[in-house]
Amino acid sequence: MAAVGGAHWSSRFGFLMASVGFAVGLGNIWRFPYIAGENGGAAFVLIYLACVFGIGAPILIAEILIGRRGQGSPTEAMTAVALESGRSKHWQLVGGMGLLAAYTIEIVYAVVVGWVLWYLFKAVTTGFVGFDTVSANAEFAAVLDSNLGMLWWTLVGLAITGLIIYAGVKDGIERAVTVLMPLLFLLLVGLAVYNYMAPAADAQGHGFSRALTWLFTPDFSKINFASVLAAVGQAFFSLSAAMAGMMVYGSYLPKSVSITRSVLIIVSLDTGVALLAGLVVFPVVFANGMDPAAGAGLIFKTLPVGFAQMPGGHGFSVLFFLMLAVAGITSMVGLVEAVNSWVEDRFDIPRHKSALLLVGSIAVFSVLSILSYNVMDHWTLGGKNFNDSMDYFSNQILLPVGGLLIALFAGWFMRREASQDELGSAANDYAIWYFLIRFVVPPAILFIFVMGVFA
Ligand code: PFF
Repeated sequence: MAAVGGAHWSSRFGFLMASVGFAVGLGNIWRFPYIAGENGGAAFVLIYLACVFGIGAPILIAEILIGRRGQGSPTEAMTAVALESGRSKHWQLVGGMGLLAAYTIEIVYAVVVGWVLWYLFKAVTTGFVGFDTVSANAEFAAVLDSNLGMLWWTLVGLAITGLIIYAGVKDGIERAVTVLMPLLFLLLVGLAVYNYMAPAADAQGHGFSRALTWLFTPDFSKINFASVLAAVGQAFFSLSAAMAGMMVYGSYLPKSVSITRSVLIIVSLDTGVALLAGLVVFPVVFANGMDPAAGAGLIFKTLPVGFAQMPGGHGFSVLFFLMLAVAGITSMVGLVEAVNSWVEDRFDIPRHKSALLLVGSIAVFSVLSILSYNVMDHWTLGGKNFNDSMDYFSNQILLPVGGLLIALFAGWFMRREASQDELGSAANDYAIWYFLIRFVVPPAILFIFVMGVFA
């Protein structure tokens, strides 16, 4: 059997950039710094690192190895590997759960990427000159009120994503990410260096130094059970674990590439980007006397006020939203490609048709997400509106349960010779992975899932 459409990456670099592009997204640049700051900075970072390397990385390894072994879309790959190990073909449901998670997340994510593109447009055309807290809040409220505006920018993001997928694995995804990801790293480092050099300071000191202290000086008193939950949740979210996408990217991976080494690179880059993003966002916040714990509003309401006040703020804002747009689009590509491979396979249609169908259907559902920011805000199910329900269903239920099942399958049900064959039996890597995926990941996820849902 061959990967869907017989597609393969042309190089390890292409695979790495696609996977890092999928992993690095709004979760790294907006969510991580804010959650780390709220949960005790460096103390949280330490717990996060343990979660990323102890739970997230073994799951990514399992996903990629199943994808490469099974050579097909997530349901097909799971079936093939299960049958090879003499197990039930119903394990394909695990692939199906990942696909469902990717699809539901995509509907909500596409709208937020739409805001980013809208803000990029604002940054380029007018900038945020003269913005203060009141006008920045009013501006964002106007965005959330404009259904047509949100729809337009959501469609722009989906169209770019669709075109990349339409063009194919090598000619579309690989070509786009090998340009976009180095651009993203360059922008990130450039903006952090700018902050380091900028004289911007308020009465309490230099913005960059304060951000460093805030993020990297451990305050263990702020750590509690909720922060541990937050760290694991963020690890799943940030690494794009259990979303079927890594399985699909793995199915395009040539046998000669080391999976463990690749995952260590992906995970380290994802974490590095998150930490650096803190040094891009918070110095601006601190130097301008603003609130670092502003949550969802941090990027869209707090930062524009900083851009208005800082020297070079206009250029900074353009590069910042460009960076965020790149991060968001390359993550959308991973989410959509996961489902695309399945549609292509399941209905036996060519890639360009499946890409169009899929992006079109996501656009239709995204209208529900858009309306939930205004007129449908009060349409709730169990106290949650559409966006919150989708978020809960995917992030709190599908991802942990999917991650648990992937770990159980790879550690306990898949034939050891098969996983050993994919990972290479000589290295210590295998022994460490096998131990983690059997004895550490399942109990950790189970515990977190039960506490998250029932606590
Ligand atoms: N891992 C990416 C991010 O951190 O933004 C993309 C992503 C995909 C995030 C799916 C969350 C998610 F549920």
